[in-house]
Amino acid sequence: MSNYHIKHLEEYYQVYRKSIRNPEQFWEEVAEEHFLWRKKWNAVLHWDFSKPEIKWFEGAKLNITENCIDRHLATRGDKTAILFEPNNPEEPAEHITYKQLHHRVNQFANVLKEQGIEKGDRVCIYVPMIPELAISLLACARIGAIHSVVFAGFSSTALATRINDADCKMVITADGSYRGAKTIDLKGIVDEALQNCPTVKTVLVAKRINSDITMKEGRDKWLQPLLDAASDQCKATVMDAEDPLFILYTSGSTGMPKGMVHTIAGYMVYTAYTFKNAFQYKEEDVYWCTADIGWITGHSYIVYGPLANGATTVMYEGVPSYPDFGRFWQIVEKHKVNQFYTAPTAIRALAKQGVELVDKYDLSSLKVLGSVGEPINEEAWHWYNDNVGKGKSPIIDSWWQTETGGMMITPIPYVTPTKPTYATLPFIGIQPCLMDENGDELKGNQTEGRLCIKFPWPSIARTIWGNHQRYKDTYFSTFKNMYFTGDGALRDEVGYYRITGRVDDVIIVSGHNLGTAPIEDAINEHPAVAESAIVGFPHDIKGSALYGYITLKDIGESRNHDNLRKEINQIISDKIGPIAKLDKIQFTQGLPKTRSGKIMRRILRKIASNELSNLGDVSTLLDPEVVENIIKDKL
Ligand code: WT7
Repeated sequence: MSNYHIKHLEEYYQVYRKSIRNPEQFWEEVAEEHFLWRKKWNAVLHWDFSKPEIKWFEGAKLNITENCIDRHLATRGDKTAILFEPNNPEEPAEHITYKQLHHRVNQFANVLKEQGIEKGDRVCIYVPMIPELAISLLACARIGAIHSVVFAGFSSTALATRINDADCKMVITADGSYRGAKTIDLKGIVDEALQNCPTVKTVLVAKRINSDITMKEGRDKWLQPLLDAASDQCKATVMDAEDPLFILYTSGSTGMPKGMVHTIAGYMVYTAYTFKNAFQYKEEDVYWCTADIGWITGHSYIVYGPLANGATTVMYEGVPSYPDFGRFWQIVEKHKVNQFYTAPTAIRALAKQGVELVDKYDLSSLKVLGSVGEPINEEAWHWYNDNVGKGKSPIIDSWWQTETGGMMITPIPYVTPTKPTYATLPFIGIQPCLMDENGDELKGNQTEGRLCIKFPWPSIARTIWGNHQRYKDTYFSTFKNMYFTGDGALRDEVGYYRITGRVDDVIIVSGHNLGTAPIEDAINEHPAVAESAIVGFPHDIKGSALYGYITLKDIGESRNHDNLRKEINQIISDKIGPIAKLDKIQFTQGLPKTRSGKIMRRILRKIASNELSNLGDVSTLLDPEVVENIIKDKL
């Protein structure tokens, strides 16, 4: 029996049991059989959730790019590694073979070195979905620089915050990007951000839209001429297993975004192993994940997981709606995609357009469908299953997080029987549990509680960059000796898990995590605003949308409320990004607060969701009349 590739349910249970009874032996076998090490580890696992400290494969030496590229050259040199599909369907796709990827990553790595980047330096990557994006991650990894990718839809303020938090020395970007029929002035956004980023010495600029941009003398450099002049041989830097591979920011319920730090060996082993099994990837398959590499889904399941398996991974530059809502299916037909991984928000948006656009294309190549990012509702699940999968491609509803690095609870296709809206069973090596509010574990099936993980897995984030205390407080302090996910979940009669959603002040809008506090901070910067509270409410396509309750400083404020709404959304857009704009803004005379001054979001959430009959306990409210007024003026 191979541990690496699970093919039957019985095998799943056997391997699962083994991975739980003796995790060290299990992961050691996987690591030994399937990866290239410069030196083996001294110990497989060292952990202490109370500190918290987690180390996998300590003492081992490796370079992840040798695992993702070099070792495939002999057997898969001419196989397509990255299949780039441009925004414009008229522009030809680009097939980058493993050999070509090797050349390009080495050249890029040499450019980084020439520009003064050394092992351990942080490089911010703010690049659209073009091949240079994937290549720049790998180039950093080649020389041991730590990449920090910022989704190229974030605003200049959000970009600057992330650059400064990690003291990045360099920014890699592009002159601009294509998004459907629009172009975006990325370089302009970078210029604005860098007015407040003293640590950045160099900006490398890829040419994509040929726009007329200004290059700052001494700081900004066009990428291509540097690549052309660079050697395509670059020895991989030998790294320690626990050296950081990257930082990736995720929103918390309060404060600054959290720079989650992932380290090399454990992340590599786990993303590779989950990719192989959760997609049942076979050598000739073409795999496509529609996420952006700016998110963890793209890091783990466009770049590292697929490449560590020698897979062909599609990178699509554009949006689902351009030139029309059939674009995803046209790409599936064109490249004969076998595994397709997307988000519920995309499925709902496409479902709304009707099945004609799906039926126009030949989707017979599809074998596995994936969903990730938020709970998938029953209707969307069936639409996806019936119309895209034609009832024959299992849907893997995979639950995981930026912090977990890889999939945690997911069906294994053709192995685990699926159930609509259920992420089903824990992946190999994962020990989930449900906790009640008193900190007791809920045993047995048919129960619901807070989702925690009892034991470390190889790709768990090791810390928050520059703030280990916050890492401990956020994930390891709510429940003793456990990783707390921030999600609620239920377990059904056969032990399947269904994720019910966040139990903190994080709202997931179109699959993007948004913390309420940073949005409220942005709103409060408007001179007319006294106070604000943001909650989520159900939305057909986005899953959740944002509802803002805002009190103004001058009650007699005679300004036009529609203009104020626009101005407030503009501030949010500038400070955070357009994804955080509010769908509804209600101006109120006050916010419901407890006697200690805490805003009772629970009540606001219910009002926004139209659950007026059951507002719960309002006895602790300072001024119950506030609630009546809010209900009266509800949007
Ligand atoms: C949060 C993590 C994992 C990559 C993309 C999101 C929610 C994620 C599911 C799912 C229900 C899900 C959770 C989680 N979530 N996948 N299949 N079913 N909820 O990563 O941005 O770090 O967000 O997304 O609430 O905590 P992320």
